[in-house]
Amino acid sequence: MNSIDVENLHFTYPESKEIIKGINLSVKKGEFLSLVGQNGSGKTTLAKHFNGLLRPSKGKVFILGEDAKNSSIAELSRKVGHLFQNPENQIFEETVFAEIAFGPRNLNLPEEEIEARVDKVLKTTRLAKYRDTHPLSLSGGEKQRLALASVVVMEPQILVLDEPTTGLDLLSIMGILEIVKELHKKNVTVILITHDMGLVSELSERVVVMGNGQIIGDGTPKEIFADDDLLERASLEPPQIMKFSKILGLKPEVKVDALYKRIVETL
Ligand SMILES: Nc1ncnc2c1ncn2[C@@H]1O[C@H](COP(=O)(O)OP(=O)(O)O)[C@@H](O)[C@H]1O
Ligand SMILES: [Mg+2]
Repeated sequence: MNSIDVENLHFTYPESKEIIKGINLSVKKGEFLSLVGQNGSGKTTLAKHFNGLLRPSKGKVFILGEDAKNSSIAELSRKVGHLFQNPENQIFEETVFAEIAFGPRNLNLPEEEIEARVDKVLKTTRLAKYRDTHPLSLSGGEKQRLALASVVVMEPQILVLDEPTTGLDLLSIMGILEIVKELHKKNVTVILITHDMGLVSELSERVVVMGNGQIIGDGTPKEIFADDDLLERASLEPPQIMKFSKILGLKPEVKVDALYKRIVETL
């Protein structure tokens, strides 16, 4: 069973032109997929169909094999966790603990299970020392970790990260990504929307490129970043590491580890 199947999806916002123009996409369980493309190409609009925030104008979306149209946003949110760019808009409670407990409380889980889940997530997101702190007094990176904690505590099988690192400093970005990598190791399906091609090349197994409401490229990072024509059409810059391997006169590599091995081989 796939995590996500999108079949001939079309979407038009009220009183707008068509934004999603016939998308077919299957995402396997446990896959780490990056969704890239120019601003306005429809990435966020597509991703909002995965947890029912938007519903197809035409076509179908299946989540874990089930037609999404038969599930409410609340039901879909248990399967698909969605982290947005601005964590401030996702903060509602007075303490970090209460903020993370909000979702599980809505599931009517027993109080002991809520506490156990929240305490576990506080540890993995390194927020335990802020358990009783007001969320709005956290730093930008901590707020984004809190937003991620609130998603992770629901134990979703699919995680959608829509530009989760925009505006964060490098250390905060690494903090978020370490958590995401751990979840991916546990077979959580990850869909990462980002403009950072360094992250795309380092982390993803598959890159899907959107242009003007359609999928215009789909392949491994190596395949995508070797396709100059595609990169130009999508206005994408290859990651620094590819340029760097070219400068060194080596075969293009998209991961730091792999390039390091090549360099060592030449010594
Ligand atoms: N609520 C909305 N109503 C009308 N048009 C919208 C709305 N949200 C986004 N759009 C338009 O849909 C297109 C795709 O936007 P979006 O999915 O946000 O792209 P991306 O995430 O790739 O930047 C853009 O042209 C944008 O202006
Ligand atoms: Mg977007």
